[in-house]
Amino acid sequence: MTYNDTIGQLPTPCYYYNLELLDATLKNVLKESSRYPGFHLHYAVKANANPVLLKRISRFGLGADCVSGNEVLRALECGFSAGKIVYAGVGKTDREIETALANDIFCFNSESLPEVNVIQEIAERMGTKARVALRVNPNVDAHTHHYITTGIEENKFGIYLYDLERVIGVVQKFPHIELIGLHFHIGSQITDMNVFRSLCLKVNEIQARLAQQGIAFPHINFGGGLGINYDQPYEEPVADFKNYFATFARFYEPLPQQQVHFEPGRALVAHCGDLIAKVLYVKEGKKKKFAVLDAGMNDLMRPALYQAFHKIENITSDKPEEKYDVVGPICESSDCFGKDVLLNGVSRGDTIVIHSTGAYGEVMASRYNLRELPGVFYAG
Ligand code: LLP
Repeated sequence: MTYNDTIGQLPTPCYYYNLELLDATLKNVLKESSRYPGFHLHYAVKANANPVLLKRISRFGLGADCVSGNEVLRALECGFSAGKIVYAGVGKTDREIETALANDIFCFNSESLPEVNVIQEIAERMGTKARVALRVNPNVDAHTHHYITTGIEENKFGIYLYDLERVIGVVQKFPHIELIGLHFHIGSQITDMNVFRSLCLKVNEIQARLAQQGIAFPHINFGGGLGINYDQPYEEPVADFKNYFATFARFYEPLPQQQVHFEPGRALVAHCGDLIAKVLYVKEGKKKKFAVLDAGMNDLMRPALYQAFHKIENITSDKPEEKYDVVGPICESSDCFGKDVLLNGVSRGDTIVIHSTGAYGEVMASRYNLRELPGVFYAG
């Protein structure tokens, strides 16, 4: 049976993961990052928290970047070692902080002084010491969609540069906090390496400024953000890790012995997943044809939420190409996966593949309209 036949037989809508491609991606990311001693990877669990994928990723020895207490617990269950877990987020609850401390994770990426204060209190009560890196908002524009830009001053994220020395001064006096580093994350789906270059130069500047005051940290964390080629999933199934790490190696000036951390999410898993759907109806309007799918925005939010592009293919038909608006069954105009998409002539029952949905797909699915959550299947 061919790959397409297999896909055609899956109950839809469902996510279909290519675990061989995941392995190939993980091998590549490790090959490229290990050229540079002192580079460490923490997979951003938020991109896809599916246990099958997580177990695969942890087996390759990566750490985990978590944004909730439940993600910390899921990462531990799936084999990530506590000593490689970092935990970020602007609104950690007391309970989540306790969970992370009880499991002795590597480091909290902390976003504000009030939060470090609470971590200090809880660590004191638990008779332990918390390792903390301060997330700094470097005011570097990622030039990506404004909903996924995080490193400019109008965002809620991180400690602002003008306030950095004051916050460091206060935190260094906390007896139950060990301040071990700085953390940055400026946005997601970044494909222009000049953006990462700007981040490196900015961090060099910040470190030089701090060094003048005798402040130096053993860890620096650049977050995630490396983008993938959504237009050409077949041509470029693995992200450009080579160029990515080379950019940091070339432009970032680490302090002696400093360890450099990364938190890739999308780039590790996006191409490994497709959303598979069936055509319920073809509807002809005066100016348009609509392909109405059995998958909706509840299964894949990205197009509705960020106007995100995903390559869409009709794998059933070899009829001549025509343009369709590819839509879901939900009563919202934004329930649309693509407008004027060229597809081989569509009929009821055809199988449609929405590509590169392994990141921020399954994990953001909801039961809106009381629809079932999408199914999940694996190849490889
Ligand atoms: N580290 C931090 C602190 C983050 O906030 C994020 C993502 C990452 C790492 C991983 O970034 P990545 O390597 O995946 O770009 N739902 C949106 C993306 C939101 C990303 C939020 N932060 C989407 O579907 O495009």
